Amino acid sequence: MAVPAEMKAEDSMLNRKYQDFLRWVVYQIYPRSFMDSNGDGIGDLNGIIEKLDYIRQLGINAVWLCPCYQSPNDDNGYDISDYENIMTEFGTMKDMERLISELHKRDMKLIMDLVPNHTSTAHRWFRESRKGKDNPYSDFYYWYDEIPNDWKSAFCGSAWEYDHIRGQYYLHSFAVSQADLNWENPAVVRAMQDVVDFWIGKGVDGFRVDVIDMISKDFNKGHNGFGPRLHEFIRDLFDRDNARYLFTVGESGVQDIDEMIRHCAAERNELSTLFLFDHMECGRKDKFTPKPDTLKSLRNILIRWQQETDKHDLLYTLFYDNHDQSPMISRIANDREYRYESATAMAAMLYLLKGIPFIYQGQEIGMTASHYNSIDCFDDVESINTYREFCREMSAEEALEKINFGSRDNARHPMPWNDQPQGGFTAGEPWMPLYSRYHEINVDKDLASERSVYRFYQRLLSLRADQRTLLYGSVKVLSSENDPFFIYTRTLDNDTWIVACNFESTQRINLPFDCEAPALSNMNRNGMAGEYAPYECAVAHVRKTE
Ligand code: GLC
Ligand code: CA
Repeated sequence: MAVPAEMKAEDSMLNRKYQDFLRWVVYQIYPRSFMDSNGDGIGDLNGIIEKLDYIRQLGINAVWLCPCYQSPNDDNGYDISDYENIMTEFGTMKDMERLISELHKRDMKLIMDLVPNHTSTAHRWFRESRKGKDNPYSDFYYWYDEIPNDWKSAFCGSAWEYDHIRGQYYLHSFAVSQADLNWENPAVVRAMQDVVDFWIGKGVDGFRVDVIDMISKDFNKGHNGFGPRLHEFIRDLFDRDNARYLFTVGESGVQDIDEMIRHCAAERNELSTLFLFDHMECGRKDKFTPKPDTLKSLRNILIRWQQETDKHDLLYTLFYDNHDQSPMISRIANDREYRYESATAMAAMLYLLKGIPFIYQGQEIGMTASHYNSIDCFDDVESINTYREFCREMSAEEALEKINFGSRDNARHPMPWNDQPQGGFTAGEPWMPLYSRYHEINVDKDLASERSVYRFYQRLLSLRADQRTLLYGSVKVLSSENDPFFIYTRTLDNDTWIVACNFESTQRINLPFDCEAPALSNMNRNGMAGEYAPYECAVAHVRKTE
């Protein structure tokens, strides 16, 4: 009898953990571009600390920091040369400790970015490894005399590079200076466990795990990912006593629910949840080619995942922007005359679904894509390599247009705090060009506006935090696949909320319920049913029938 009782206790512990995570609201910071505190033009940890109240007041209770470890910055911190030290431009370990304690003081969690698939070639492990075949680090990376397959780097060209010092080829799935670690070597697994433990020791609450699907490889497959030992390696990292109850979200190319179950089902002790990317293709044929599209396609993909994850008790991540994507608002909504309406309706349609909201810096003031007239305005390694490739097939103007559309730099401009010189981001020269619309779109201006995106987010997040139904309730979709709007309900026990978001055209919306006055609306609506203007949205409590 004792065994089932113990299992029950374990069960409810896991259940509590998941209930807890549904209360997290995460703000993603790209440290280099958030706030510069010392005038060197580069965002830093002290800059983040200065802005914690701004973040907290939005209704955020967790922060995900993009990598802030030592790095030569070929891929802005995703090329790590020392996992246990802070990038010099960002500050010191003392600053990091202060940031953690300032977050915790405000009841906020910290999620660090863990990059287990590759290190910088400037990392000590690689510098030792390339010296020869018989030192302790020789097998930390994949070394071959002959290239074993024709894998391509995500940033253009072959994924294999010849190293003259070692006289062999090594694998780099990303930039030439990002060498893939060889997880088949148990010493690599131990080294990465040490990294996780080091940061647990500093008090972090979770990890966002970079390209987790790549750490196990099958060289006979056409691509690098989902190798045979993937799940074993994930458990090596997180299925340990000190790590099991962390929040972990993997960046992954998972595309179907069975794969997601293998990663995230509670009893597997692997990851809490995943970032899935199929909705990222809305509004584009490929990363650099636009496709006419509307919020409809985003809605339909979101609905599918909501239904599947709900059925299998999996945690879902609610996001549509991050540091690798040009803002969704510019691709499938209207970022000019209906910018405020689009930004707020998109927030209502996404963040009142079931899952953990992830808000990327700038989204809360309705930041859009930007536009530049020269390739010199771009910094991102992917954009620059891709531009060179494009220039072989098309004119420089066409190539630049494509880069303007798809570049990751669209998400990496210095945060526009005001319309002062340098957008209030730095007292010096910013490390990359300012956001091209910063005079028109910036934090001060948004906060002073009657139609503030920030305040709409604030109201939305506070409503969500106050209403258990909006956190835990099941989702039911009332609109159909072809409707030019999105209507859904959240229900817990006999309590129901309804969310209505109109898309680009004026529509009459009828509702099958008697509702209270809207608790949230982007246009001061009085009643829920009736005519909706373009991108109008409203949220209301359904009146209980006796
Ligand atoms: C992930 C990161 C991206 C980075 C790449 C390599 O996709 O989000 O920014 O370039 O991994 O680490
Ligand atoms: Ca600085």
